[in-house]
Amino acid sequence: MEAMKPIVMSGIRPTGFLHLGNYFGAIRNYVRMQEEFECYFMVADLHSLTTHPDTKELKANVHRVLAENIACGLDPDKAAFYCQSHIYETSELYLYLNMLAYMGELEKTTTFKDKVRMQPQNVNAGLLTYPVLQAADIILHRASLVPVGKDQEQHLEMARTYVNRFNHRYGEVFPEPKAFNYSQELVKVPALDGSGKMSKSENQMATIYLADSDDMIRKKIMKAKTDSGPLEPNTPKPDYIENIFLLMKLVSSADVIEKFEADYNGCNIRYGDMKKQLGEDMVNFVSPIRNKVDSILNNEIYLKEVMQKGEEKARKSAKGTMELVRQAIGLNYY
Ligand code: TRP
Repeated sequence: MEAMKPIVMSGIRPTGFLHLGNYFGAIRNYVRMQEEFECYFMVADLHSLTTHPDTKELKANVHRVLAENIACGLDPDKAAFYCQSHIYETSELYLYLNMLAYMGELEKTTTFKDKVRMQPQNVNAGLLTYPVLQAADIILHRASLVPVGKDQEQHLEMARTYVNRFNHRYGEVFPEPKAFNYSQELVKVPALDGSGKMSKSENQMATIYLADSDDMIRKKIMKAKTDSGPLEPNTPKPDYIENIFLLMKLVSSADVIEKFEADYNGCNIRYGDMKKQLGEDMVNFVSPIRNKVDSILNNEIYLKEVMQKGEEKARKSAKGTMELVRQAIGLNYY
């Protein structure tokens, strides 16, 4: 028998287009994990209803997030890649966990408080129990490793709290899930305007999306802030220049990077040339992914098969867990 692999689970919200930060910060790790672990990757469509009650674009967004992740290397034959709403067991487990989650702690959650501020006209109970649904997603597969960024740490802490309450009250069913990433320092992909990281919603001109056209990529990079260059050899780089080098390190070859480092340190760097080079290397990196996304999106039959395959794998795992759960709670009357 094959040795049991640790179980990995993560969720991806189907809102907006993926960008370079998502690729280097998350998807690239998923692609590596699917080789080593038993992986469940889920499109969090139910979670998106807490903030996006209008579902006109939902189907297109779900298709896009599936296609973008697959184009980046996520393999539906290796990992289980499924939609949250297809696995009803998630909703059942969510209901049980709601009885273990207290109002006071839910109201204190940072993401809840942020959303109350952002959408005061729609403070629904689903927003309040968002972390409970997330806990259900994870423990439905009895996963112990959850590849997420810092912003999700509090939700994971809450998942551990519910796991401990459940195990304590009804008997040991779940392992404690913890955040997991390969590198200690998560890869940060800087925005092109020197304002922090690339992000989904902030300055779109400072973020490179996997769906950007070649010309759009070139244009965004040419707009990145530079100056007239250092005046003394080996001057430390200002942030906005360091960022251009960081982006280059993600997509350019070692000799290209070496050349511009030498130019910088020798005070004869030409930022126009550097950005042109980065633009071309970025186009060469992004355009094959974008073309693959387009061809997947044009193949609805393939997308349906992906979702069905994912659903089948996720349900198998979910069924096993839910039998244990109902038994442990005492919902077994005959
Ligand atoms: N809340 C996560 C986010 O905003 C998405 C998510 C939903 C998730 N369910 C999950 C992440 C389970 C990890 C595990 O990005």
